[in-house]
Amino acid sequence: MVNLNASTLQLPLDSNPEAEFHYVWLRDNCNCNECCHSDTKERILVSADIPLDIAASSASLDEQKLKVRWNQSNHVSVYDLSWLSQHDYSQGSFTDDPATSGFMPRVWGREFESSIPTFQYRELYQSDAALRAWCESIRDYGLTIIRGAPSNEGEIERFAEHVGCVRETIYDRLHNVRATPGEYNAYNVASTTLELKPHTDMPNYNNPPGVQMFHFLQNDSVGGESTAVDGAMVVRQLQERDPDAFKILSSTPVRFRMFSDRGDIINSNPLLTLDVNGNLKVFRFSNQLAQPANIAPEQMDAFYRAYRKLGTLVEAPENKVQFRLNTGDIMATNNLRVMHGRNAYDADSGGRHLQLSYMDYDDVLSRLRMLMKK
Ligand SMILES: [Fe+2]
Repeated sequence: MVNLNASTLQLPLDSNPEAEFHYVWLRDNCNCNECCHSDTKERILVSADIPLDIAASSASLDEQKLKVRWNQSNHVSVYDLSWLSQHDYSQGSFTDDPATSGFMPRVWGREFESSIPTFQYRELYQSDAALRAWCESIRDYGLTIIRGAPSNEGEIERFAEHVGCVRETIYDRLHNVRATPGEYNAYNVASTTLELKPHTDMPNYNNPPGVQMFHFLQNDSVGGESTAVDGAMVVRQLQERDPDAFKILSSTPVRFRMFSDRGDIINSNPLLTLDVNGNLKVFRFSNQLAQPANIAPEQMDAFYRAYRKLGTLVEAPENKVQFRLNTGDIMATNNLRVMHGRNAYDADSGGRHLQLSYMDYDDVLSRLRMLMKK
């Protein structure tokens, strides 16, 4: 039984006996061949052309479909009830993306050190299930280790292309990290032997690379243990312990700059960029790339108080995992959420050479969706 109201219709669905849809929404989502291209599934109907007083002149229901005749142009639309159930916004926002449906970050602290998701390089080529699990771990935890990668130059670039595609930046497409004075352009402190505090890479971009991957072609040096901190955990703690600081850091733009001999990228964004629901979307934290704060004098003290609070949480031992990566290991992080760093190392004790490549997070989710379709 379908009820026709002034601007909505109501019908019983298995999932919701009183499901309700607006006429304008239903008309907009007509999937007939006139309104929606049969091959590309793209909308042909121009949404802005739908009169706002569109209404059903009649509607009928059978076991599987809802059929609506409109009061404009005598158009008829047919909807699968299963599709309506899946897109029933009267129950709250719907999630029709298999890769992110119901997603909640699995936040972690120091205890995660013993359970970081670990994969075998070869399996990620041989098994769809293994590759899918890796994509899901990047999504859920934002930190993974891959073991057994061959120590070939450019291997990490090929891995990025195996998953999706390389995200290029103003650094080299394949970025070498090693302390060999004179041989490589030392763009930043990573190319020294100093400690690297936990940071996200390239917060200076409006769209920072979503996944960063280090490949250890060689690690025979003493020290240089890898570190990582979950930005989602830090943000949760900040929200609970100091809501004012959270508010300041999610609304105050901070300028970051990174340059190389190929480019110079400068942008201002809040350290905590939130989505429209107030959830963390991009975490930016890089002591070395932050530029002088350019905010109103009356906000300066409060900003530094909040920034210091965040920095203290980032450095808190209970939030940091630390582990040794060896020749043939890859560390991959969700760079929109998880910070990475390393301890200082002794370059005279043995060789240490990493190659670094990036992907966009969208490409990992895309690969996950393609694997789910198989
Ligand atoms: Fe980095």
